[in-house]
Amino acid sequence: MTTPQPLPVFPDGFLWGVATSAFQIEGAVAQDGRGPSSWDAFTREPGRIKDGSDATVATDHYHRWPEDVALLRELGVGAYRFSLSWPRLLPTGAGPLNVPGLDFYDRLVDALCEAGIQPVPTLFHWDTPLALEERGGWLLRDTARRFADYAAEVAARLGDRVAHWITLNEPAEVTLLGYGLGVHAPGKRLLFEALPAAHHQLLGHGLAVRALRDQGARSIGIANSHGPVHACSGSEADTGAADFYDTLTNRLFADPLLLGRYPEGLAELLPGPVDEDLRVIAEPLDWYGVNYYQPTLVGAAESTGGPADGPGDGIADGPGAGFAGVDIPAELPFALHEMPGRERTGFGWAVVPEGLSETLRILRVRYGDRLPPVMVTENGCAYPDRTEDSARIAFLDAHLRELHTALAEGIEVRGYFIWSLLDNFEWAEGRSQRFGLVHVDYTTLERTPRASFHWFRRALSAQRAAG
Ligand code: NOJ
Repeated sequence: MTTPQPLPVFPDGFLWGVATSAFQIEGAVAQDGRGPSSWDAFTREPGRIKDGSDATVATDHYHRWPEDVALLRELGVGAYRFSLSWPRLLPTGAGPLNVPGLDFYDRLVDALCEAGIQPVPTLFHWDTPLALEERGGWLLRDTARRFADYAAEVAARLGDRVAHWITLNEPAEVTLLGYGLGVHAPGKRLLFEALPAAHHQLLGHGLAVRALRDQGARSIGIANSHGPVHACSGSEADTGAADFYDTLTNRLFADPLLLGRYPEGLAELLPGPVDEDLRVIAEPLDWYGVNYYQPTLVGAAESTGGPADGPGDGIADGPGAGFAGVDIPAELPFALHEMPGRERTGFGWAVVPEGLSETLRILRVRYGDRLPPVMVTENGCAYPDRTEDSARIAFLDAHLRELHTALAEGIEVRGYFIWSLLDNFEWAEGRSQRFGLVHVDYTTLERTPRASFHWFRRALSAQRAAG
């Protein structure tokens, strides 16, 4: 491929980073007192993970973290987003912190600080302690309280060195894929009865924000998945279905945080006291994290030809952000369609860079002054190659240009994190989807930086030189 033109210059102090999560990279699931998580149990159930793999070793980051910090340093990022494993820190979800688990993050945070890289931990990236999940997980109000206790304990120990906190990662996916459709842990297929899991995660978020602030935290955000939703036709049925999908995947999670209310008609489906809880949920944020992957094209359920056509007909290929690629049960009033005329990533997701700036515009219009500065907490793509990596470079380059356009339009964006530093355990897809700037050989666990790693390293150094 031709070498892309240099990127436009981003503002001074713009935070450049890469992201990972504990369950997807750490491995060492039974070491040093870590307790089991909802995902350990889920991956053991036959047929749950596409390639039959699990995350007991993952990338072995638990042992190889010094090498990974060295990679971060070489890359030249200013920040590293990772997650703290709740079951490593609180093996049964309660009680005193597990000291070896805490030591692991202590050392990681110290090493990052020493390398001049700001630590950006996420408190919950989907690995609920199994003991809590077995009692009902996020369907229970009590889990929100326990999450806040965990946040307080961790902040007391790591808060002196943590630059920015993230409470939750993509509560929409946990609710809809985990509790609604059962394709992620905990594998429950409750459809609309999954909605309490959304409310309790949001409540846990709000309580955690308060707990973190009590411990002196100054920069707190959340990482929500967002993407434009388009109707596949102008018909009333299709626009209505698209609007409903938008409400369920985008607004259900952003409205309560940013407006202090649920979208119309949904509050009635949630366990109370909703009004009182909304005051906690809407605790002001220092910034708002957006994970962007692709837009979704939605139509009314019947426009796929109905259930007689069987699952998959007319439905976007490849599981993705939100419901994409998941067989939509006939009970749900929408169907997902393929974006026509678009290149696709190795995962089958549509490559739509302008969807990133569009997402940010939608948020600005919808939330106005209530939208705090934004950080793009995830953006990236999966391609299989080991070193030749021009498609990933083109993807990232195009998305960064769109991000710059949004900045030029006056949308306040403070940072951008690529998903991901390393290939890792891609949930229900197992090891089959590779999102890393760095390739991981799952036999030897050897790390090999891809061409995109070197491209990003050069881009960051050019930004520094221009700044
Ligand atoms: C969203 C999730 O936060 C992350 O864990 C996942 O690997 C990426 N997107 C890619 O699907």
